[in-house]
Amino acid sequence: MPDHSQYTASIRYDKRLYRHDIEGSIAHVRMLAKQSVISQQDADLIVDGLVKVRQEIDAETFPWDSGLEDLHMNIESRLTQLIGPVAGRIHTGRSRNDQIALDMRLYTKEVIGQTIEGLRGVQRSLVGLSERYPEVVMPGYTHTQRAQPVLFAHHMLAYFQMFQRDVSRFKDCHGRTDVMPLGSGALAGVAYPLDREFVAQELGFKEISANSMDAVSDRDFVVEYLAAAALCMTHLSRLAEEVVLWSSQEFGFISLSEEFTTGSSIMPQKRNPDYAELARGKTGRVYGHLLALLTVLKGLPLTYNRDLQEDKEGFFDTVDTLLPTLAVFRDMLAGLTLHQNLVTSLAGESQALATELADYLVGKGIPFREAHGAVRELCQYAEAQGKELSGLGLEEYRRFSSHFDEGVYGIDAKSAVAARDLPGGTAPGRVAEALAQAKQLLEAEADGL
Ligand code: ARG
Repeated sequence: MPDHSQYTASIRYDKRLYRHDIEGSIAHVRMLAKQSVISQQDADLIVDGLVKVRQEIDAETFPWDSGLEDLHMNIESRLTQLIGPVAGRIHTGRSRNDQIALDMRLYTKEVIGQTIEGLRGVQRSLVGLSERYPEVVMPGYTHTQRAQPVLFAHHMLAYFQMFQRDVSRFKDCHGRTDVMPLGSGALAGVAYPLDREFVAQELGFKEISANSMDAVSDRDFVVEYLAAAALCMTHLSRLAEEVVLWSSQEFGFISLSEEFTTGSSIMPQKRNPDYAELARGKTGRVYGHLLALLTVLKGLPLTYNRDLQEDKEGFFDTVDTLLPTLAVFRDMLAGLTLHQNLVTSLAGESQALATELADYLVGKGIPFREAHGAVRELCQYAEAQGKELSGLGLEEYRRFSSHFDEGVYGIDAKSAVAARDLPGGTAPGRVAEALAQAKQLLEAEADGL
């Protein structure tokens, strides 16, 4: 019979938790000594041994044994080689079930910090772009049809808001991850006088878990991270899509810096936006990992079941996808060039100013519906004539409404943008305010978790 033991092994990927695992073990052992469950001398030996093990893993000299199923076994076995049978006391009052729950929580907390940092980097680049082009007007779109002029900065700050919600979701997830499960044992709690609060404090947890059965089988915090990551990738993917569109020859709104494009192996003229495309493409795998974990959990009876080991690979892959994507966007955005003349001139074309004209008639006392109809016919006429609205004579305007006068020639993209002067609108003053708020938020928030 072939050797099937690798089927259950997790060592290939749970290695990555070694610092968290050792940190947890050190806190546990210190507490055991403090509570006189083991002697101080034994505890010191074990802690020294664990530090040694950590150094070996750091230095990549640790003798990983793939025959030992997981990280916990590898570490304990090496510890035994280093300090002898006293190593066996490390697992007093602990099970791998609460141990892995602890490791996962420590890791998740750390990764949430890095994720928020990554998001801040993207937000900083968006703010940077808004500052570089504070009053450039461009066409805003609905249905991918030119709709109304907006400030480029307004468009960038829309993404700032999305990423701000992402930050808040990850912070929220952090709150529920910040719960210390050790002391739950295999499922029923532990029969030694452990000091759970002490361990929580040592490890920097806000609280201890309230129910041992829940604690060893709960992976909600991983689901929450994956859900927040999935939505964050959605935002990145939407931005990626705009980068792809805008850098196309058809749009020509932006150029990416050389390092974020790749040449074609066959068509020498091409600069492809591969980074943005890959970000868009990688979004799918993150969605997949969320769904996979939800599915792992849905049929599990209490408490620990080995299925839970399947929480890791998809989660790690999500982290390995999201963090680099955030770093790429930070730098890709920082290095992009906006073709101001082009976007400004497109924003001033007829299609984008139709609403302005309707509003103009409303200003003359015409009901909006009627104004809308008149301008629609006017636009159709201009198009049939092959003219811009600004190229029509006043008598041509008047064919559609007698209320048009010289004032129509004062309508342009700038006036359209300036008119949207409510909170949340695209008037330059409002956008400047929003930009100042965004900067303040980035400066003020230390993101203490
Ligand atoms: N490798 C396991 C996991 O990731 C660790 C816990 C194993 N517990 C057990 N009773 N076999 O979930």
